[in-house]
Amino acid sequence: MPQYPTLSILLNLGAGMTRSPRALKRALTAAATALLASTVVTMIATKPADATATPQPGPVTAPVMGWNSWNRFGCNIDENLIKATADAMVSTGLKASGYTYVNIDDCWMASTRDGQGRLRPDPVRFPGGIAAIADYVHARGLKLGIYSSAGTATCQGLPASLDHETVDAQTWASWGVDLLKYDNCNNQGRPAAQRYKAMGDALKATGRHIVYSICNWGNDAPWEFAPNVGGSLWRTTGDINDSWGSVTSLLDQQAGLETFARKGYYNDPDMLEVGNGGLTQDENVAHFSLWSLLSSPLLLGNDLRSVSATTLGVLRNADVIAVNQDWGGSQGRRVADNGDTEVWAKPMSDGSVATVLFNRGGSATTVSTSTAALGLGGSSSYTTKNLWTGATATTSGTLSASVPAHGVVMFRVTRAGTLAAPPAAGTLQVSDLPWLASSNGWGPAERDRANGEQAAADGPGLSVGGTTFSKGIGVHADAAVHVYLGRNCRTFTAQVGVDGEVGTNGSVRFAVYGDGRLLGFTGVKSGGQAPTRLTVSTGGYLTLELRVTDARNGISYDHADWGSPTLVCGGSGAGTAVSDRTWGTAVNGWGPAERDTSNGEQAAGDGSLITVGGVSYPKGSVSTPPATSPCRSAGRAAGSPPSPASTPRSARRPPAWCSASSPTASRCGPARP
Ligand code: GLA
Repeated sequence: MPQYPTLSILLNLGAGMTRSPRALKRALTAAATALLASTVVTMIATKPADATATPQPGPVTAPVMGWNSWNRFGCNIDENLIKATADAMVSTGLKASGYTYVNIDDCWMASTRDGQGRLRPDPVRFPGGIAAIADYVHARGLKLGIYSSAGTATCQGLPASLDHETVDAQTWASWGVDLLKYDNCNNQGRPAAQRYKAMGDALKATGRHIVYSICNWGNDAPWEFAPNVGGSLWRTTGDINDSWGSVTSLLDQQAGLETFARKGYYNDPDMLEVGNGGLTQDENVAHFSLWSLLSSPLLLGNDLRSVSATTLGVLRNADVIAVNQDWGGSQGRRVADNGDTEVWAKPMSDGSVATVLFNRGGSATTVSTSTAALGLGGSSSYTTKNLWTGATATTSGTLSASVPAHGVVMFRVTRAGTLAAPPAAGTLQVSDLPWLASSNGWGPAERDRANGEQAAADGPGLSVGGTTFSKGIGVHADAAVHVYLGRNCRTFTAQVGVDGEVGTNGSVRFAVYGDGRLLGFTGVKSGGQAPTRLTVSTGGYLTLELRVTDARNGISYDHADWGSPTLVCGGSGAGTAVSDRTWGTAVNGWGPAERDTSNGEQAAGDGSLITVGGVSYPKGSVSTPPATSPCRSAGRAAGSPPSPASTPRSARRPPAWCSASSPTASRCGPARP
């Protein structure tokens, strides 16, 4: 296990100590933001694959797995069904496979509240009460979920929780409930973020860890507000039903949401229909594979009391479940869309990539991709494991399989050969480097010119909001350019935006990935806007992916530029994110210093996604410089520790580590003995 120096996160209060708390807070926020803007590169220095344990911001550490009553039973539920389902989860081995939550959906409650204004269970369906069911479920090592709506009534017209948040949260906590699914019916037109925050606060105030599952059907961009109101998962769409058309329609609505999922916070494309009878076996396998790859909650929706061996074989596939539960730095995403065939990929934390080759068409066909397009590349060979047959094979870079109609082939792909030589040291333009692979929505990705039309080299000069660039890459959403870094490049920076050739049309998002991990991404950039500077640390990564996606409104006019896409290479190794390290001391002017979120208010874990200058960073932490920098006074060279993977064991004790671009960003710590 390589060791890294301990860093101290220091916050210099200075004259601010004499200010009022509010003024102090404002000053500190400004200081911290300014610092982040200048040092975020170093604060997010990352080491792939084996980062030290990160404390989790929310109560979930992986997508929730379990069962929910709605898809199969609707309102036809009672306590016997819930108990029998809990028993079946144990006896079928589903519990052993990781399925834990037993979730009661709509229709558990009586049609009126009790004399003290509390929700109460339907006396006919649940005569023994919910607390007794919670005990029953807990006694089997499982957890109990319950349902309400952020409205005056549930979707089935029963009492719901709008303006009753505190009493309802306390009632559920007193019963021993572990998860709340909170729906959106009868919401009285009140703002979603407000309604969902009220319940998030009420759940938190109970002191019980109740996973908060926000069911706002994808309205009001829950991927943006849900993590800030305590949500661990949020529905991205309307309801699923037991048909292939529903599965593919929901899948299509996931493309472009991948940047919003983080470890502990997940997009929810709705519960599973596997085993309910409306899908063929190939369709069941495709549905389960794709939902797993999306890091979706895996909530079974079938009757577990009579589940077939064939269905269990799908639901208990340990290799596929492992893909779902692993956080490798991004949820799965679509990396190629060829009409009836698609390729989806998810990086795994061990450096491998899981991929789904998907055939939506009505007859079997061959689907192909390359290891480079999956975010690998740069190795002389790769091993593949077919996660549904168990078959293994070796490839030098091409992946190809015959995929059944409405079906998938799912692989896990691992580098197994000799790595290519890295780019030379120096300041390099990506448009001058060879590309491992590229894909583009309209003709080829262009070097040093805008996308133009479909012919090669037919675009004008690069121009974003009136700023021109002599060097750069002109693309059209959806686009990807993959470059080999060989763990030898420290930073990547570019100025990004929609190219002037489409005037004020077009809207896209830019994202940068290192070995498939999401490093940074922009908000929506529209035609005519000035460029945004996007800068990330690339130390330790073998490959870089520059991706442009459409802003979920179609790809017309989505001409996008990476202006002056610059790599600084040489003398760099893998770093560890400061937010993943043990902190010697952490002093902060307003609540605790936060890991991988902004400061927020005074409570721990109440910040949100770190966003600076229009660019969001999944990893980071906040500090301000000490008055004098021991890095500076010690005259130490800036840089990251050497890459554990490329360093002999004897040489793995790293030198004291200072930030690469700003030695004052963090106090250096001595190497651990
Ligand atoms: C909504 C939700 C469903 C289900 C029903 C219950 O439609 O989206 O998942 O909970 O309500 O009435």
